[in-house]
Amino acid sequence: MEKIIIFDTTLRDGEQSPGASFTVEEKIKVAKQLEKLNVDVIEVGFPASSQGDFEAVREVCREVPGPVITALARTIPSDIERAGEALKEAKRGRIHTFIATSPIHMEYKLKMRPSKVLELAVKAIKMAKGYTFDVEFSPEDASRSEPTFLYELIEAVIEEGATVINIPDTVGYAVPEEFENLIQNIIKNVPRIKEITLSVHCHNDLGMATANSLTAIKGGARQIECTINGIGERAGNASLEEIVMALKTRSDFFHFFTEINTVEIYRTSQLVSHLTGMIVQPNKAIVGKNAFRHEAGIHQDGVLKKAATYEIMTPSSIGLEKGELVLGKLSGRHAFKERLEKMGIQMENSQLEMAFKAFKDLADKKKEVFDEDLISMVEEQTLKIPEVYSLEYIHTVSGNKILSTATVKVKKGDKIFQEAACGDGPVDAAYRAIDRITGERLTLIDYSIHSVTRGKDALGEVVIKVQEKGNLITGRGISTDIIEASVNAYLNAINRLIYRERKPFKE
Ligand code: KIV
Ligand code: ZN
Repeated sequence: MEKIIIFDTTLRDGEQSPGASFTVEEKIKVAKQLEKLNVDVIEVGFPASSQGDFEAVREVCREVPGPVITALARTIPSDIERAGEALKEAKRGRIHTFIATSPIHMEYKLKMRPSKVLELAVKAIKMAKGYTFDVEFSPEDASRSEPTFLYELIEAVIEEGATVINIPDTVGYAVPEEFENLIQNIIKNVPRIKEITLSVHCHNDLGMATANSLTAIKGGARQIECTINGIGERAGNASLEEIVMALKTRSDFFHFFTEINTVEIYRTSQLVSHLTGMIVQPNKAIVGKNAFRHEAGIHQDGVLKKAATYEIMTPSSIGLEKGELVLGKLSGRHAFKERLEKMGIQMENSQLEMAFKAFKDLADKKKEVFDEDLISMVEEQTLKIPEVYSLEYIHTVSGNKILSTATVKVKKGDKIFQEAACGDGPVDAAYRAIDRITGERLTLIDYSIHSVTRGKDALGEVVIKVQEKGNLITGRGISTDIIEASVNAYLNAINRLIYRERKPFKE
């Protein structure tokens, strides 16, 4: 069996999902988890696009030594220079440069003739080779490009030293058979193709990203670019967990393997979902809440008799253990730490202390504390960005025949601020009161709430998206009280905004 290289672009293309932005610390956290998942390549960002991405690439190179670390760059010299600088300390760094090659992109977007595009591509490879030996090239919108131009350009960039050629189905237009043919034709018509690794990068606009990636493997591709939970630009990218589990579950058909540590899949999916605020749809293949649930009586009966009747893979193969009742009010530090370690969560002592305190508070409010509760709570603790504003007190009054009001006390530094406001419901009233305190003008674009586990006393997780000057920011809050969770999510969004802009404190 031959190996398929897994190139994860959650932190670059995945971040292009509307509203899904990561801080530098969050990128490091995800990259460390991707390293545990044992991906081969991590695309951390696009250093020329922001200082944050530059720092994220540099820091991941320092802190995540296992995988190849990749930085994206257009064929513009300043982009390549920035990517090269960010990758300076990488053990194994790769510059990934791209330019569009389809007639529609060249004519309308680039306003360039094909000969100019070819010239820029070749020059970019030459320059990138000055920074890293490993250079990947992507002809953007390859699936809508003229095949003969594509062959010519690919041959030219290989000649210049490209080590990986990635064929993107940028707009998710391809269908599996056609995409497989494209890959086969590239192999047939590019004489030097054997010198490089052939990769694909499929988008999911027609729901065929996974199928296209898998047929591309049959066609000869050996690297797959994908993201956790399939997040990414528009309808997203091919989902890592689908590709990996398809190759594993149907190895009898594909005869390929990956080196992915599949038991880390569920945890990675949850982490990315928490950080992006993009809740995984319940029926999502592999990592959705329902992926291993059997509802029909006949199915349940079958699974009880022999799981393989209706389960083609086991929940434990992706690291999903049954929602075990783990700890209670009387559990001690040791049991708490042990349980976290069993779930693969390691914390420094100071973080552990804070998490233990939060667990005790939760166990006071909630009879049963499940693994999912612990994961949510711990993420909340360890991913905290500096809290400029934190909630001290909230009191709301609401009903079906009265105007809702909220009184909110918020701590900032060592000062307490208090405001009251009316609103369309208690959450709106509380948000208006907070706006009066912070002076921020945020537009609420999206609000969602879901329960982390079952039961009336379940933890409620609120995820909001707010807009400020065209930027979408995600806020997340958890509590057994949904108003408190909503307020925490709003303050979290404001703190993120301040952190991102590194705004000085307004006193
Ligand atoms: O979809 C695309 O074409 C891309 C390239 C930058 C590889 O993301
Ligand atoms: Zn893409």
